Amino acid sequence: MPYKKDTICVQGGYRPGTEESRIPPICQSTTFVYEKTQDMADLFDLKADGYFYTRLANPTVAAFEGKVAALEGGAAGIGCSSGMAAITLTVFTLCEAGDNILSSSAIYGGTFNLFAVTLPKLGIETRFFDPDAPAEEIEKLIDGRTKLLFTETIANPAIKILDFDKFAEIARKYGILFAVDNTLATPILCRPFEWGADLVVHSSSKYLDGHAAALGGMIVDGGKFSFKDNPRYLSFNRPDESYHGLVYADLPAAQFAVKCRAQMMRDMGAMMSPQNAFLSWLGCDTLALRMERHSSNAEAVAAYLASHPKIDWVWHASLPGNKYRALAEKYLPDGQGGMLSFGIKGDVRQAAKFMEALRLITQETHVADARSCVLHPASTTHRQLTKEELAQAGVPENLVRLSVGIEHPDDIIADLEGALEHIR
Ligand SMILES: Cc1ncc(COP(=O)(O)O)c(C=O)c1O
Repeated sequence: MPYKKDTICVQGGYRPGTEESRIPPICQSTTFVYEKTQDMADLFDLKADGYFYTRLANPTVAAFEGKVAALEGGAAGIGCSSGMAAITLTVFTLCEAGDNILSSSAIYGGTFNLFAVTLPKLGIETRFFDPDAPAEEIEKLIDGRTKLLFTETIANPAIKILDFDKFAEIARKYGILFAVDNTLATPILCRPFEWGADLVVHSSSKYLDGHAAALGGMIVDGGKFSFKDNPRYLSFNRPDESYHGLVYADLPAAQFAVKCRAQMMRDMGAMMSPQNAFLSWLGCDTLALRMERHSSNAEAVAAYLASHPKIDWVWHASLPGNKYRALAEKYLPDGQGGMLSFGIKGDVRQAAKFMEALRLITQETHVADARSCVLHPASTTHRQLTKEELAQAGVPENLVRLSVGIEHPDDIIADLEGALEHIR
């Protein structure tokens, strides 16, 4: 019987043998030694598992990959240097010039820039859709060169909850790979593979590490997507010249992960460092406990803000009347994590005054670690976006994003109260 998620948090990804260290050692080495030429040749040919160069695989990174893959219930994980690296590698494993991807417009600003500005320069088009649009409208964007359907479980910073059933059905109908950025939910609150996703990506810099200590990303291959003879994915069905004619669709397992690592990680080199993998592996030990506290704290803070006369609106799916409450009850029944967004009555100046008056909660670009922090996306993470793009991404100019930490809820609320008093 598979272990429960709480158990995987502390035991997953690494099982020491006799006299081996209880937690994974930091294997701080670029390379690994072999006595027999054939043993190394077998590794290069993917005939054997093992380590020869840290750009492709490393034992400490493997421990973290194993833990996150087990938590998500996937077939294989790939540790990346950042969340953005994970998303970029995902696109490049599937697409070449002339292809297109479909993406929700309610996504993290950095991902939006990659999709809207950088990918088109390489000949890959992104077709954005409103995640709340009916399926028929989204389906109209699909053609024979569509390679990816991309969404976020909890959209950052719009806090929209994903309707998994709708997107899984579209993906299945057209044979398109369905990828979900699960950063803000984590596998503790939602496991996208159980709801029809084919691939999960993470910025592990957020809740997985949980301590603002290690930048990182993770790709988890669900291992069930059918590439074999799927006309959309010729690059999986044709021999890879750079790998002695290997046909990825013929592999018995984790076809996406093998192609991603063997081709794209080899060529792009966006690998997670062993040190960051160690910190992130360790951070995950407490993930289940932290997500419980983040969620209950955010619920208390959302209720407080929603009743405050100086607050215009609050987005958190725990609130009565929130548009995404029913979806949250279905897909995130144990809590919605620590992220919420709200608008202060007035304009951008009132928001700045409020944020500068906070004493405990700090202003940061970061979100989703143990300490509470705030950000004004329109002037920071989303500042490259035009007014129209901001509206499309669901980010009003007066939006303040609050990442609720695991401090005592009374102290968080007292800090908010004090800062709100400063607004006249
Ligand atoms: C939902 C989401 N995905 C991806 C990223 C990018 O991750 P990273 O900063 O590790 O590159 C972020 C960063 O904030 C994010 O919030």
